[in-house]
Order: sequence, then C-alpha cells, then structure tokens
Amino acid sequence: MSEEKDFEKMIEGIQNKIELDEETDFSKKVINEYRNPSNFGVIEKADAIGKIKGPCRDTMKITLKIENDRVANVCFWTDGCGTSIACGSMLTKMIKGKTIDEISAITSKELNNALDGLPETHVHCTVLAVSTLHKAIENYLSGAP
Ligand code: FES
Repeated sequence: MSEEKDFEKMIEGIQNKIELDEETDFSKKVINEYRNPSNFGVIEKADAIGKIKGPCRDTMKITLKIENDRVANVCFWTDGCGTSIACGSMLTKMIKGKTIDEISAITSKELNNALDGLPETHVHCTVLAVSTLHKAIENYLSGAP
C-alpha cells in the first residue's frame, strides 16, 4: 500500500477519536494543522532524509531539499496519530527557508509552543517530529541523504 493510501486510511481511523477529544484536549492550532496539513508527502531525490519509529511504534519521515545551506523544500510523512500530523505540518512550516544551523537548534519544546501546547499525553509526538528532523540533518552532514 502506498504511503498516501496509508495516510488516508489512518485519517479515517482516527477521525472519530480526535473529533471526540478536540473540544477539550487540543488547541485550535493542533486541530487546524491536523485537518489541513501542509507539506505532507515525500520529496523524491531529497538531499536529506530522516526516518524514525518512536517508542509509540509510529513512524515519521522527513525529506528535505537543501540549497545554499537553507531548507528550499521539506515534506513529512507519518503513519502516526493525528497529533503527529499536526507536529509534522507545523514543524515543516517552521523550518522552510531556515539555515542548517537554525533548524539543528530547534527543540521539541519550541514545536510544542508553536502548537499552543499539547496535552501531556501527546508531548512525545513533538519529540518524534523534531528527532526525525535532527536525524535528517545528521545524515545530510555525514554525507548520506
Ligand atoms: Fe505516536 Fe503520536 S502517538 S506519534
């Protein structure tokens, strides 16, 4: 099954749950990013690729195009929870146009703040997203895509 199909299936699967939770647990920013994610997908022939499976067993993949030491384009893919979609979407928006040094310094706390704070039970989703980005940069700096 393609990653796109996986995404559609996963969206259907979690739709009901997040609809139930969203009134009480999630910020408007999280709900908006989850419902209308930016930069979902995989860049072909990317300059940097990070892929991590978190302790929750969900996977995040981030692919980047780097030009003149800056992020020219970035996409994320995940088979994870609705929050991981919101995290990938917000993180990719935060880093477009930034330098390698700037994105290397980004923390999961900054991502959490950008989403107006996640429920404690979902803070680990920000760690998965930022760790995946850092893995991509580590691979890029070591000469691997
Ligand atoms: Fe796994 Fe959110 S529960 S990334």
